[in-house]
Amino acid sequence: MSKKNLDWANIGFSYMVADKRFVSNYKDGKWDDGVITENSMVTLSEDAGVLHYAQECFEGLKAYETEDGKIVTFRPDLNAARMEDSAKRLEMPPFPADRFIKAVEEVVAANKDWVPPFGSGATLYIRPVMFATGNVIGVKPADEYQFRIFVTPVGPYFKGGAKPIVVKISDFDRAAPHGTGNIKAGLNYAMSLHAIVTAHEEGFAENVYLDAESRTYIEETGGANIIFVTKEGGLVVPKSHTDSILPSITRRSIVYVAREILGLDVEERPVKLSEVENFAEMGLCGTAAVISPVGKINDHGKEICFPSGMDEMGPVIKKLYDTLTGIQMGKVPAPEGWIHVI
Ligand code: PLP
Ligand code: COI
Repeated sequence: MSKKNLDWANIGFSYMVADKRFVSNYKDGKWDDGVITENSMVTLSEDAGVLHYAQECFEGLKAYETEDGKIVTFRPDLNAARMEDSAKRLEMPPFPADRFIKAVEEVVAANKDWVPPFGSGATLYIRPVMFATGNVIGVKPADEYQFRIFVTPVGPYFKGGAKPIVVKISDFDRAAPHGTGNIKAGLNYAMSLHAIVTAHEEGFAENVYLDAESRTYIEETGGANIIFVTKEGGLVVPKSHTDSILPSITRRSIVYVAREILGLDVEERPVKLSEVENFAEMGLCGTAAVISPVGKINDHGKEICFPSGMDEMGPVIKKLYDTLTGIQMGKVPAPEGWIHVI
C-alpha cells in the first residue's frame, strides 16, 4: 500500500471518510474488546441518550509524519486523561486511558496511507468520540455507550493558513461559571454554533468569549485557547477563576516550551479585556488551530490592533510556533514522553 493520491497541500479542515475506525461498545457495565472496522456509519435507537440529553464528549489530536519517515502522535496520554474527565462529568463510563492510547495506535496504523507526507502542511486529525446509545426517557444517564475513533486528513483550520486573522468579542457566552466549559463536551459547541455563524457572516474568523459572570475577563474562543505576548516579549495566558476554559494540551505545551526551552517569562492569570490593547501579539492555540496569529480584535466596533499587524506572525509567536511544530514533526528534540511513535 502507498499514500492516498490526495492534493495534500490544498486540503481544508473537513471530513474525508478514511478506511478504518475503532469501535467499542459499553453494555452490562463493561467496555467490550473493540474492533477495527470499515463501517463509518452509526445506527441508533430513536431514544438513544445522546439524541435527547446530549450525553457526548470527544477529543482531538493529530498524527504527523516526521522528517525520517516515522508516524507519531503528540501527547495522546493527555487526551486520554481529558476524555476521562469529560466522561466523568457527564456521568459516562470512562474509556480506560491505556486502551485509549492503544486504540489511537491501531487506528493510525490501520490508516497509515492517510497520514499526510512530511512537509505537506497537512496532518492526520484523530477524533475519539463517546456517546450514549442506551435508551432514556426520563432525565438520567444512559446505560449503554459507544466509543469510536476515526481519522481524517486536514489542512489549516483557518483559511489563509498562518496569516493573521480578525476575531470579535462575542455577546454570547460559551460556558457558564463552574459549568462544563472545562470539558470537551459537544454541548459546549452546540452553544457556540449560532455565535460562529454570526461572526462569519460579519467577516470575523472566530469569537472571543468573555467570562459569563462579569463579562470582564478574556476566556477563550469557540475552538481554541488564547495566548498573548507582552511588549517585553513575555507570555501571558488567560486563566479562569470560574473554571470555564478548556485545558488545552497545545496551550499547556506552549507554556512549557516558553518557560523551559525558550526561557520566556510566563504568567498564567486572569486577563481583563481592558488590558488587551497593551499586548504586542495574540494567538489562538489548539490541535486544529496549532498557533494561529490574531492581527485584530473587534470589540463592538472598536478595533484593537496588535503591533504584529495583519501580514505575518509576530516574532515571539513565530518562535513558539516553530518550536512546537518542530517538536511535533521531529525536527526539534522533544521533552520526555511528548512524542508517541506508532
Ligand atoms: N478550546 C476549545 C474550546 C477547543 O475546542 C479546543 C480544541 O481542542 C481547544 C481549546 C484546544 O485544545 P487542545 O490544544 O487540547 O486541542
Ligand atoms: C481541536 O482542536 O481538536 C478541536 O477539537 C477544535 C475544533 C474546533 C475542531
